[in-house]
Amino acid sequence: MTLERRPDALTPEAAAQAPESPGLTVVIPTFNERENVAVLVDRLETVLAGIAWEAVFVDDDSPDGTAAAVKALATSDSRIHCLRRVGRRGLAGAVLDGMMMSAAPHLAVMDADLQHDERLLPRMLALLDAGQADLVVASRYLEAGAEPEGLSPSRRLGSRVAVAIARRVLRADISDPVSGFFMIRREAVDRVAQRLSDQGFKILFDIIASQPAPLRIVELPFDFGRRRAGASKLDSRIVIDYLGLVFSKLSGGLLPPRALFFALVGTCGLVVHLISLRIGLALGLAFISAQGAAAVVAMTSNYLVNNAITYRDRRLHGWKLITGYLKFCGLCGLGLVANVAVAGLVHQFEPIWWLAGAAGALFGAAWNYVTTFLAVW
Ligand code: GDD
Ligand code: MN
Repeated sequence: MTLERRPDALTPEAAAQAPESPGLTVVIPTFNERENVAVLVDRLETVLAGIAWEAVFVDDDSPDGTAAAVKALATSDSRIHCLRRVGRRGLAGAVLDGMMMSAAPHLAVMDADLQHDERLLPRMLALLDAGQADLVVASRYLEAGAEPEGLSPSRRLGSRVAVAIARRVLRADISDPVSGFFMIRREAVDRVAQRLSDQGFKILFDIIASQPAPLRIVELPFDFGRRRAGASKLDSRIVIDYLGLVFSKLSGGLLPPRALFFALVGTCGLVVHLISLRIGLALGLAFISAQGAAAVVAMTSNYLVNNAITYRDRRLHGWKLITGYLKFCGLCGLGLVANVAVAGLVHQFEPIWWLAGAAGALFGAAWNYVTTFLAVW
């Protein structure tokens, strides 16, 4: 006897009772949106009447209890799902996880704070259904001269710059490639899922940039309203994340965004080192002592800046900040030894000073990046 149930084992009566499987999954990332979820579900219900839909809320364990609020709704409505992610933070990763839960042919992504006009959803779906597009983006910039009122002046400028860079990199004529509101065929996400970065905010940009063949994109204009309750989680560090993603894409995905930040921080560390050395010498230290002190200053600032930017999603605090620092110094010390050893080796075979020096430095930097990634953060 076998316990396995084959799909064709479903009796016609059972099949008739099983609810229709959704044709549309709306993925909604949340962080501290408790006040907004019920209103959003209400609005979805109204606007998607007659459509088989489901909503997947992906909550990063919000302290305000958003997940509990969604689950309360889910007990009386089987179309509502909540994925509560524990110990993780990040918009792109949350959206990606939500998308991976879906078996529907179409996926929509929208914010929970009601800044995205849900009345666009049926039109987006109609465009995908009619086979006129693979991706429909709700754009904040489609109307000439339109300025989204939901953004502060500095965010507006930042957003414009991001859009300009994205257009260059994507080589797609799209006015708002960083929009957080879009609908896409699930297969278009599935085929690039493994290539998508879970860091940062720019999931749409990443999906478009990762496609093997260009997607057919249609944009619809909408007014980006003000958020209803709570506060935005986007801050200046998001811009940094975004630049990392753009660079990563420019390197053909070879280098993760983190590696680029690590290298950037290391380069700035060199400047810090030289300034410290100058100060040490001005204070009358002997060259060797000043060089040693400058190295410690640079290493410490590199550690703190990497902790704040490169690894901001797994930032170390308190006691761990100190043990992490000791590990970081130990590993970078070994990196220095490896750097000199490699440079010496290269120099033996090919006595070109800059080639040997660069090879050593590169090896040392790669060593530092990989070992501190594994052991410290
Ligand atoms: N799960 C999860 N994890 N959700 C998050 C996180 C996170 O770390 N950070 C933000 N969210 C959720 C918010 O709760 C909200 O539903 C949505 O993602 C958008 O976050 P906001 O903080 O409201 O972003 P915004 O309105 O400032 O930014 C909008 O414009 C950006 C482009 O400028 C959003 O639409 C972004 O998606 C968009 O990229
Ligand atoms: Mn918002």
